[in-house]
Formats: sequence, C-alpha cells, structure tokens
Amino acid sequence: MTVNTHAHITSWVVAIILFVIAATILNKSGKEKAQKIVKMILRLFYLFILATGLLLLFGGVAIDGEYIGKAILGILSIGFMEMILARSSKGKPNGLFWALLIIVLVLTIALGMRLPLGIWG
Ligand code: HEM
Repeated sequence: MTVNTHAHITSWVVAIILFVIAATILNKSGKEKAQKIVKMILRLFYLFILATGLLLLFGGVAIDGEYIGKAILGILSIGFMEMILARSSKGKPNGLFWALLIIVLVLTIALGMRLPLGIWG
C-alpha cells in the first residue's frame, strides 16, 4: 500500500463519478455550461489518474506484461469516457461505447486489484 495507490484510487473514483454526471444528467438536461465545467474538472482528474498510475508503474516494480496491460487498459478506459462524451454532445448513439467502457473498466479494476501494490494486496 503506497500513498500513490490511495491517490490513484481516489482519482479514478472521482473521475468515474464526474464522467457519469457529465454523460447522463447534464447531457440529458441540456445544461451545456455546467457540463463544460464538469468536463474540464474531469480532464484534470484524467491527468491525476495518469500521473499516479505512472508513478506506481515506475515506482520500483518489475514491469511485466500484466503491468503493461494495466496501463493500456487504464488509458483505454479514459479514451472510451472521452468518446462517449464527445459523441453524446453531438447526439450520436453510444450503446456500443458504454458496453466497451464497462468491459474495459471492469478488466482494469480487476487487474489492478490482482497486481501486488495496493489495498487489496
Ligand atoms: C480509469 C482508469 C483506471 C482505473 C479504473 C484504474 C484502477 C486501478 C486499480 C483498481 C488499481 C489497484 C489498486 C489497489 O490494488 O489498491 C490500480 C493500480 C494501478 N494502476 Fe490503475 N487504473 C486506471 C488507470 C491507470 C493508468 C492510466 C495507469 C498507467 C499509466 C495505471 C497504472 C496502475 C499501476 C501501475 C497500478 C499498481 C498495480 C499494482 O501493482 O498493484 N492505472 N489501478
């Protein structure tokens, strides 16, 4: 368990909450200005996720395929969140991307929990 693991978990939990608010409630109610602000804060949290993830990655572990997979899945999760936000503000259908996001998120979290650093051991 490291300080970074805590910061990493906090960052993605907050990001997921902000993403869901921006992609659902704010998108459906057409509150564009509020959505813009939440998206800006969300992007800051992407940077926190990335920074804390990279610190964990280069913090002394032996980087193997699982770690590389974890980093790729984490980056894909952020990518799908951004795609959903971009497409929903254009009113495009998003079902496929929600499904992909959920799959990738579950895999990211499962692999993160499996790997040795962190609160699940
Ligand atoms: C939405 C995106 C992400 C989610 C949901 C996520 C989720 C998690 C989870 C659940 C853990 C395990 C924490 C613990 O065991 O206490 C973790 C650890 C970790 N994450 Fe992420 N992560 C994300 C993005 C990233 C990114 C972008 C990177 C790298 C650039 C990254 C690198 C790591 C590393 C290196 C660990 C430590 C693994 C270990 O040895 O336990 N993560 N992440």
